[in-house]
Amino acid sequence: MNTSSAAKARSRAIKPKAGFCKQALVANRKTYEKLYRQSLEKPEKFWGDASREITWFKPWKKLLSWKPPFAEWFVGGKLNVSFNCLDRHVASPRRHKAALIWEGEPGERVTLTYAQLHREVCKFANVLKSQGIKSGDRVAIYMPMIPEAVIAMLACARIGAPHTVIFGGFSAESVKDRINDCGAKIVVTADGGYRRGQVVRLKESVDAALPGTSTVTRVIVVRRAGLDMSLGDRDVWYHEAMAAASDQCEAASLDSEHPLFILYTSGSTGKPKGILHTTAGYFLGALLSTKYVFDLKDEDLYWCTADIGWVTGHTYVVYGVLGLGGTSLIYEGAPNHPEPDRFWKIVEEHKVNIFYTAPTAIRAFMKWGDDWVKKHDLSSLRLLGSVGEPINPEAWMWYYRTVGQERCPVVDTWWQTETGGHMVTTLPGAVPMKPGSAGLPFFGVDLAVVDESGAEVPPDTGGRLVIRRPWPSMLRSIYGDATRYRKQYWSDVKGCYFTGDGARRDRDGYFWITGRIDDVLNVAGHRLGTAEVESALVSHPAVAEAAVVGKADEIKGQAVFAFVTVKQGITPTTELNEELRRHVGKEIGAIAKPDVIRFAEVLPKTRSGKIMRRLLREIAAGGEVKGDVTTLEDFNALASLRQQEE
Ligand code: WTA
Repeated sequence: MNTSSAAKARSRAIKPKAGFCKQALVANRKTYEKLYRQSLEKPEKFWGDASREITWFKPWKKLLSWKPPFAEWFVGGKLNVSFNCLDRHVASPRRHKAALIWEGEPGERVTLTYAQLHREVCKFANVLKSQGIKSGDRVAIYMPMIPEAVIAMLACARIGAPHTVIFGGFSAESVKDRINDCGAKIVVTADGGYRRGQVVRLKESVDAALPGTSTVTRVIVVRRAGLDMSLGDRDVWYHEAMAAASDQCEAASLDSEHPLFILYTSGSTGKPKGILHTTAGYFLGALLSTKYVFDLKDEDLYWCTADIGWVTGHTYVVYGVLGLGGTSLIYEGAPNHPEPDRFWKIVEEHKVNIFYTAPTAIRAFMKWGDDWVKKHDLSSLRLLGSVGEPINPEAWMWYYRTVGQERCPVVDTWWQTETGGHMVTTLPGAVPMKPGSAGLPFFGVDLAVVDESGAEVPPDTGGRLVIRRPWPSMLRSIYGDATRYRKQYWSDVKGCYFTGDGARRDRDGYFWITGRIDDVLNVAGHRLGTAEVESALVSHPAVAEAAVVGKADEIKGQAVFAFVTVKQGITPTTELNEELRRHVGKEIGAIAKPDVIRFAEVLPKTRSGKIMRRLLREIAAGGEVKGDVTTLEDFNALASLRQQEE
């Protein structure tokens, strides 16, 4: 898009259709403002009312205990998230309503009603108990997108065993690191899962990971892909364990602050960190945002395309929608298998009403062409959502016009693993949408754009995005590392949570997120620390030093661009280049494989020895590198020109 049309798109505000507004929960900006103000000025009243969304075993006594930066919300309350997602619906007319509708990549379909899902979850909770899992024990879940993955999560929540879901695309090394960091006792996995016509062999990765761990006593294996495999002493088949399990399992009465899950995500330094979420505050955030942002109605079929390995899959595939008694569609495989219209075929055939996906997918669909979309009747859709990275106005307009047929509001939702749920969005029907802007703060979110000194900047000025007070669904800590939690999030800007993102706020109060301003990349909506990829590269015996930067990419948002110096005596070759890419895939997972690796004589450094990342980013962006992947680049001259600046 050229600059003037981009500017036009930015200034454009698109009003939601009157038909949508009429039935929306929040029908106009005035009502939004009133509720938003109340959420900040009278939090006791606002959260007191909101907390009725939860069925409590014991009511909470105190809204918030805040000993910065440590928060406890709904102090003294007792509840169970699995009970709230299942039992209360089973005891209502929703009992025979579909809770999960699953489609496998090869095309199988399974529907589980609330009564059926409840039964499976109770049985699996008993399996976990019979394997010695007690409240507080950690359970790792490394699964394809199949109903058993959701069953395992809800079973953990039922007995108070925090789960750590590991994305099925991560390598054995990553599985090992996560198991070791949280000390998981059990791993729930599958023989394999389908992705783009291939079987991803998950159990093999678990087998490769376990020799490097010491806490795992049992591996429970779902037979999904029918792979021919024999199980070891430590392994049991899921179906065999389930056959012997009782379907009666009372939900444990858990404290509001009982840990619900640990989810690993990349930061600017070191290995991924375990983001810790607890029970009541997280769950209420999930319920409230699902209700207001997706405008979820009882009769809706809702589809969030995220994998449960990411936070979006936790909050918006499982906890929010099931907590409200909605129907959640899950699909196992790739968007373009067997052809680029798989998503639209699913929307048409299942009559999906609410659809939530990532800009990287939207841009890929744009590239594949409108015909794949237009082939299908998408008239069931009534609301579209976007998450994971900034959506460019061009992709936003395409989504709105071609998929939503200018009928469906588009909710862009800004949030993070750490925030637990949506923080910024345009509540559908309440306010006009601005393509490219995430919108206004959600209830209870005290958001600001500040400069380096922590002072709020004027409208239309770029700065750091911070949250100025605690909110219920915030992370409680980094698992096992409270010091890092404090340093990482609460030390940049005094008294504020620093998001790591840059943003500006316009004169209407809309936030425009410009992306990460720390050393975190966002590749196809996935967070990736440059430090992680660099340490994967230097763990290869041929590599002396590595520096990784992001390069703008039309589809993925950012691509991974690596500069590598090799050890003395090693000659850079095409084979080595390819070997290093594979090595990163093995160390982290396919999503981290550098798109480009360039060999360099030395990396450009400042006088104090810091790698000149800004220069490398410019070189990556500007193509100031030779075409041949084996050529040794010499950045010394450029670096010496720049030494004064950095
Ligand atoms: C980015 C995903 C712009 C942002 C839910 C954030 C976004 C990081 C948006 C968190 C959005 C997410 N617009 N940027 N709507 N949503 N981001 O933890 O940089 O995987 O800090 O959570 O993704 O990624 P995470």
